[in-house]
Amino acid sequence: MSEAGWEKVCEAAELAEGRMKGATLGEREVVVCRTKEGLHALDNVCTHAYAKMDEGRLRGVRLICPLHGASFDCRTGAVLGAPATVPLQTHEVRERDGAIEVRLRG
Ligand code: FES
Repeated sequence: MSEAGWEKVCEAAELAEGRMKGATLGEREVVVCRTKEGLHALDNVCTHAYAKMDEGRLRGVRLICPLHGASFDCRTGAVLGAPATVPLQTHEVRERDGAIEVRLRG
């Protein structure tokens, strides 16, 4: 049973800075990004059409969709570049006891 909605995504050591990791929590696809600024968790499905963000690229805090190149700020989910116009939903993320855990929002 997870503590108040926190679910483990992976071991902390599996996610180096500048990398991302996708996971399925219940019915939700999420992606966790580790940047110089820390950990960030978002929906893993682009808001433009269907593409998995963890198959794209992470450049600093810019998360780039593999399909048509829309980009998002992985800290806030805000759109940084077309063709997407709707932000990505963000989720809570933390590192605890050597594991990365996410708690879904919205
Ligand atoms: S599906 Fe991501 S930009 Fe089109």
